[in-house]
Amino acid sequence: MLPILPYRKPQLGRDYWVQDDFLPNANEIAQRCFDQDYWELGAPYANEPWPGKRTPNALTPAELEYVETWVKKMTGAKRLWQEATPEGSSLNHNYFQLVGMPDSGARPHTDSTKLCRYASVIYLTPDPDPECGTSFYRQRQPNGSLGGNLCMPPHANLREALKVKGLPPEAWQEDVRVDNKFNRILLYKANLVHSATGYFGFDHQDKRLTAVFFWMA
Ligand SMILES: [Fe+2]
Repeated sequence: MLPILPYRKPQLGRDYWVQDDFLPNANEIAQRCFDQDYWELGAPYANEPWPGKRTPNALTPAELEYVETWVKKMTGAKRLWQEATPEGSSLNHNYFQLVGMPDSGARPHTDSTKLCRYASVIYLTPDPDPECGTSFYRQRQPNGSLGGNLCMPPHANLREALKVKGLPPEAWQEDVRVDNKFNRILLYKANLVHSATGYFGFDHQDKRLTAVFFWMA
């Protein structure tokens, strides 16, 4: 039997925040991404744990400041920053991620508690599949009983908290779903078990495009 995580039902305005029609120039930003010619390749194109492909410097400093002003307002945080481990690993803050239907599926996880407290995603596919937003999950035991959804320090991630290398999708039950909608921002506490609900699209401009952010606070 796996350790049972603590459970806290994700609540809008306390654990996650959503704002529609967020960026004043979302179309321009989406086009900027589709026009990129530098891409880092993830699974299944390269031996990486993350799916699809990504490219850095998604938003300009001014656009990023606009996002961070909103994040501070929602969370009450006075200061936001990026963290790195002593070994030099960090998160792909302010990246575009472009992931197609065949690239991956939901992979429930938590983001490193050593590297971030809040994570955020802006959905930027103009005509997305609404069911491929972001979901929060809780543990489901083999006997069907439900467990928790929080990774607490000193554990940095679920592998540490649950003392496993990985967990099959059936070890999780979807709890709360936020739909994918063009120019919607979702902000959430990064130690809640979460994942992209799914991916869609086969052609470059039809895939699930997001800008992703991670902050310590
Ligand atoms: Fe994540």
